[in-house]
Amino acid sequence: MHTATAFLLPSTWFVIFSIVSGFECPRGGYNNQTQFGPGCNYRCHCVADAQCDNDTGICQGGCGAGWMGPGCQYGDIAFKKRAWMSSNTGPDKVVDGDPSTCSQTDQIGEKWWRVDLNGLYRITGLIIFSDNPDALKGFKVRVGNVSSNSSADFPSTCFNDSSNANASEVITVLCTSELVGKHLMISIMDQQTKMKLCDVRVYGGRSIAYRRFTNQSSDQWDGVASRAVDGGTYTSYEYNTCTHTIEETSPRWMVDLAQVYYISRIEIFNRQDCCEERLAGFTISFATNGSFVMVYKHPHVMPAELTDVTNMSNDKARFIQIELTDTSKRTLSLCEVFIYGDCPDNLCGWSCEYPCYCAKPEDKINKIDGYCPTGCAENWTGSKCDCE
Ligand SMILES: *[C@@H]1O[C@H](CO)[C@@H](O)[C@H](O)[C@H]1NC(C)=O
Ligand SMILES: *[C@@H]1O[C@H](CO)[C@@H](O)[C@H](O)[C@H]1NC(C)=O
Ligand SMILES: *[C@@H]1O[C@H](CO)[C@@H](O)[C@H](O)[C@H]1NC(C)=O
Ligand SMILES: *[C@@H]1O[C@H](CO)[C@@H](O)[C@H](O)[C@H]1NC(C)=O
Ligand SMILES: *[C@@H]1O[C@H](CO)[C@@H](O)[C@H](O)[C@H]1NC(C)=O
Ligand SMILES: *[C@@H]1O[C@H](CO)[C@@H](O)[C@H](O)[C@H]1NC(C)=O
Ligand SMILES: *[C@@H]1O[C@H](CO)[C@@H](O)[C@H](O)[C@H]1NC(C)=O
Ligand SMILES: *[C@@H]1O[C@H](CO)[C@@H](O)[C@H](O)[C@H]1NC(C)=O
Ligand SMILES: *[C@@H]1O[C@H](CO)[C@@H](O)[C@H](O)[C@H]1NC(C)=O
Ligand SMILES: *[C@@H]1O[C@H](CO)[C@@H](O)[C@H](O)[C@H]1NC(C)=O
Repeated sequence: MHTATAFLLPSTWFVIFSIVSGFECPRGGYNNQTQFGPGCNYRCHCVADAQCDNDTGICQGGCGAGWMGPGCQYGDIAFKKRAWMSSNTGPDKVVDGDPSTCSQTDQIGEKWWRVDLNGLYRITGLIIFSDNPDALKGFKVRVGNVSSNSSADFPSTCFNDSSNANASEVITVLCTSELVGKHLMISIMDQQTKMKLCDVRVYGGRSIAYRRFTNQSSDQWDGVASRAVDGGTYTSYEYNTCTHTIEETSPRWMVDLAQVYYISRIEIFNRQDCCEERLAGFTISFATNGSFVMVYKHPHVMPAELTDVTNMSNDKARFIQIELTDTSKRTLSLCEVFIYGDCPDNLCGWSCEYPCYCAKPEDKINKIDGYCPTGCAENWTGSKCDCE
């Protein structure tokens, strides 16, 4: 079991990097999505699909539903999951991706809000939106494995708020150590105010496969390999966003992330217009520069529309392969593959291209611009800890 301390970050530092530039990246991917970043090869995740800053990905109107963190590049694992609150009817408003809809408890004293993440996830931090942050003083964030309303069933603490400073309306909470669990609870024991939450987004790793190099063992019906990383999640083949191999032995699809990353989670969208069973029993394998090692095998049952492979042990990979390994001839079709992870320890940048010197090299919520939420390593200073 983990015990952890954690840190409150002011959210205002994001604004410092928000410089409106003249150049806009052209749209791309499936259905002309807004893009930004090196090579214009990253996807904006803004409210109302607005264009983000072409360098940083920052969205003036905030991150769209289901996205969070630097450049809105991190997936929110609490989005649209099932939630409960100690009183009141609207706990779902806290996971609807809309910070303008809030939910408030009726009672004062001990109160809580909790969410079932619907799977075992690695939890590194979260963002809390509240329009009454003073009423959150003394809040605790806990992680557990059972669906329970009792804080005693949430044995791991991600964060205890003990700050006397005025909280901001957007509170970024970083767990000091990564916690593994299925449920998350935010509770306040003794504040004599009602608890009000507008949005809670839980960090689920940075999206790293969008428009990367892909290939597959064969192509059929124009179902080229790149369709699985084009950002289109339609699961009907007619939308031209699903891949398709011929019927063959061990059909396989591969993506090159262009850089070694830690991998924490993989979402796979399966065809729904027919042939859902084709994906049953698929395997996922990782390689850095040598041969592939299998890290996951789907149980041979009817695959869901979305398979979310979570709790990956943060293995490193540059190449990720999805394969149907039976001896019989089969067809592989993938409608989208979202891969979440981040740079290895001590590396930062969009492509993990420069060293970073954070006090805690394992911090996994901001590897993009090198800002160190927990401060700099010994003998390093500066806003990005890049001065010796
Ligand atoms: C938070 O407070 C609880 C007691 O309420 C304590 O058991 C736990 O160790 C604390 N955790 C941190 C990270 O401070
Ligand atoms: C963003 O726009 C600025 C100003 O036009 C330009 O200098 C910069 O190269 C652009 N960045 C990218 C990644 O295209
Ligand atoms: C995408 O953009 C291209 C070129 O700008 C345009 O021809 C095409 O119609 C657009 N597609 C959609 C679906 O908007
Ligand atoms: C938890 O509390 C909610 C009401 O806030 C109630 O609807 C639910 O049944 C309770 N769940 C458990 C497991 O006690
Ligand atoms: C939940 O279960 C997983 C796997 O069984 C374990 O690794 C993790 O520590 C548990 N989490 C908590 C908070 O007990
Ligand atoms: C906190 O907020 C109160 C009321 O808005 C204000 O009077 C006080 O100066 C603030 N304290 C700090 C440290 O900002
Ligand atoms: C995909 O491309 C890589 C690198 O060029 C190559 O090693 C691999 O064999 C190819 N895979 C398939 C399935 O064609
Ligand atoms: C290949 O992988 C090995 C083991 O992970 C590593 O030591 C080596 O530096 C890698 N080589 C390249 C060129 O990335
Ligand atoms: C989840 O990850 C934890 C920590 O690496 C590990 O102890 C546990 O066995 C994993 N659980 C499952 C179900 O894979
Ligand atoms: C930091 O600098 C001091 C003085 O130069 C040195 O003694 C110490 O070993 C350095 N620490 C690290 C971790 O490099």
